[in-house]
Amino acid sequence: MKQNNKKNKFSYPYLFSPITVGGYHMANRLVALPVHTGFAQTNGNPSPWMEALYSRLAASGVGMVVVANAAVSHDGAVSRFNLMADRDELLPGLTRLAEKIKQNGAIACLQLNHAGRFAKTKRPLLPSPIISTNLFFNMESLKYFLHFFPFEKRFKLTRAFIRQIANWRHAMTAEDRERVMNDFANAAVRAYEAGFDMVELHGANGYLLCQYLSLFTNKLKSDSGFGGNFQGRVAFPLEVVKSVKKRLPENFPVGFRLILREWVPDGINLPEALAFASLLENEGVAYLSASVGTYNSILSPEILKKMDKPIYLDADVKKLTAKVNIPTIISGRITTPSQAEALIRQGTSDLIGLGRSLRTDPEWVVKAKTSCEKIIRCTNCNQCLKRVILEKGFNCRLWPKSYQEKTVLEHKMLTRNRK
Ligand SMILES: Cc1cc2nc3c(=O)[nH]c(=O)nc-3n(C[C@H](O)[C@H](O)[C@H](O)COP(=O)(O)O)c2cc1C
Repeated sequence: MKQNNKKNKFSYPYLFSPITVGGYHMANRLVALPVHTGFAQTNGNPSPWMEALYSRLAASGVGMVVVANAAVSHDGAVSRFNLMADRDELLPGLTRLAEKIKQNGAIACLQLNHAGRFAKTKRPLLPSPIISTNLFFNMESLKYFLHFFPFEKRFKLTRAFIRQIANWRHAMTAEDRERVMNDFANAAVRAYEAGFDMVELHGANGYLLCQYLSLFTNKLKSDSGFGGNFQGRVAFPLEVVKSVKKRLPENFPVGFRLILREWVPDGINLPEALAFASLLENEGVAYLSASVGTYNSILSPEILKKMDKPIYLDADVKKLTAKVNIPTIISGRITTPSQAEALIRQGTSDLIGLGRSLRTDPEWVVKAKTSCEKIIRCTNCNQCLKRVILEKGFNCRLWPKSYQEKTVLEHKMLTRNRK
C-alpha cells in the first residue's frame, strides 16, 4: 500500500484520546454525524442497505454513531423513505440497528426528529402560518433551490414546493403541541427499549424544534407562551427535552443538535443559539452537536460559498464550547485528521463530527491511525444532498462505480416493494 500520509495515530494524540459522553467512555473523539440517507423501507423499517451502512460506520473506528432522522410521528417524516420511531412494531428494526452499531464497537445514538413544515404530509405542523413577507423570501429560496438541480427536475420540484408552501396555513394547537411532546417521549422510550445508548433531539436544519426557536418561522405572540421573545420561542423545544427526559431512566443521555445560525431574515443567530445552549445544559442535555442553515438558506450562492470553506464552523463552535460545560461536537467540511487534531488540541470542540467525509471514505479513521493510504476526501459536490432531496437515496460520486450502481438498484427495490 502507498504511504501517503506522514502521520499516524501517535501523531494525533488529541484526536485519539478518550472522553466520556453522557457517562459513556469513548476511545476517541470521532462521531459519525447523522446524515439522512432516504434509505428506509416505506413502512419505516431500516432497509438492509441502511443496516449495512450503519454497521460499516460503526466498524470504521469512530467512537459514536448517530443514526439520522428517525421521525417521531407519521406527520413528522421528511421523506417517503424515512426511518420511523413512531410505533412499537418498529422496535425489531430499531433493535437490529442498535445491535449492529454496538457489536461493531461504537456508541449507538438515535436522532429523533419532527420535520414540522418540511414534513411530507398534507397538513404539516407549524408554530404559526406563513405570512406574506415570508412568502416572498420562501419563493426566492425556491429559485436557488431550483438552480441546484438539473433543468428537467425543476418543473416537478416547483410544483411540489409550491404545494408544500400552500399547506403552511395552520398553526399548531395546544393539543398538537401536547401530542408532539408525547411523540418525542414515546420515540425516545422506543430507542431506549431497542438498546440505543442515547438519543439526540434534532433541533436544527429548519425542522419543527428549530421552527419554534426562529422568529422567521415562529410568529406567535409572547402571550401565547410559545413565541415572541426569546423566552417564548425556546419554550416548546425545552418542553420537549423535559418530556423526553421525564420518561427515560435518569442516567439515559439525551443530546441535542443545535443550530447556531439560520442565515434567513429574523432567523436564529449566534448569541441566541448560545443562550439557548446554556438552557439546554441546565435541562441536563448530555452534549451539543453544532449545525447551521436550513433549506431556506443553504442553497443560496452566498451560503454555498461559505459552506464550501474547510471547517466553516470553527469560530462559532469555539464560542459554544467556551459557553457550556458539556461536550460539543463540531461539524462542517472537516476532511483530514490534521484538521481534526488541531480542533481538539485548540479546544475548539470536544468531539469531531464527520458527516459526508466518513461516508465518502469509511476507512477514514483506519487511515488516520495507520497512515497506510490516502484518505478519499469529500469534495462538497453535494450530489448526496440532491439525491436525498429527490428521494433517490444517498449516493457518493467518489464511491467505486460498481457500488454506486448497486446502491441505485437497492433504492429502486425500495420503490418497487412499495408498489
Ligand atoms: C445528504 C445530507 C443529509 C443530512 N441529514 C441530516 C440529518 O438527518 N440530521 C442532521 O442533524 N444533519 C443532517 N445533515 C447535516 C450533517 O450532519 C452535517 O452537519 C453536514 O453535512 C456538515 O458536515 P460534513 O461536511 O462533515 O458533511 C445532512 C447532510 C447531508 C449532506
